[in-house]
Amino acid sequence: MTQPDRSSFDALLGALAEVFAGEGRLGGDLAADALSAAGRTPYRRMTSRADPHAVLKSTCANRSAHPLAASVWSCRDYLDWTAWEGEGLATDVSANLYTTELVGPDGHCIADAVRVGLLVSNADTDYPVSRHSGEETYFVISGVAEWTVGGSPYTAQAPGCFIHHPAWMPHGRRTRAEPFLGAWRWSGDLDLSSFSVDD
Ligand SMILES: [Fe+2]
Repeated sequence: MTQPDRSSFDALLGALAEVFAGEGRLGGDLAADALSAAGRTPYRRMTSRADPHAVLKSTCANRSAHPLAASVWSCRDYLDWTAWEGEGLATDVSANLYTTELVGPDGHCIADAVRVGLLVSNADTDYPVSRHSGEETYFVISGVAEWTVGGSPYTAQAPGCFIHHPAWMPHGRRTRAEPFLGAWRWSGDLDLSSFSVDD
């Protein structure tokens, strides 16, 4: 079967590969390798269970956004989203968080060593302190969000920033007036069911 034209999707994979290759960690290198290889891997649709179109449009149009925002918006028709429903996360928080896995065991393109995806958060959303088995890095694409890592005070992180969470490190994020768009990557133990919210 002929694959549809996926040039805009592949452009996003390539741009993300460049970003994570510049992270300076082994996990970033693994993500970059997987993103590059995904351009030669079949694309598959996933079940779309959430529709962040309005907030995605708003955050991609943010004048302070990283150039990756334009790549995300260009390939929006290729992205299937779901609410992030981690164990212990309140339903009213989940309803404000949209995620898609681009590359990984459950992604648009299959890979087994990493997960790489996008996350959109509505404004005024407090994603509580939580932890998980995967070693994780976020890259801020649009919107200034406040982060705590390992018990640190909440600190504003702007587009272009990396935020690293070692495996099992507690971390939380809250948005204020702006919605948020970020790219995330996991390496190591990729078990999503390891996620838990701290008491
Ligand atoms: Fe996380």
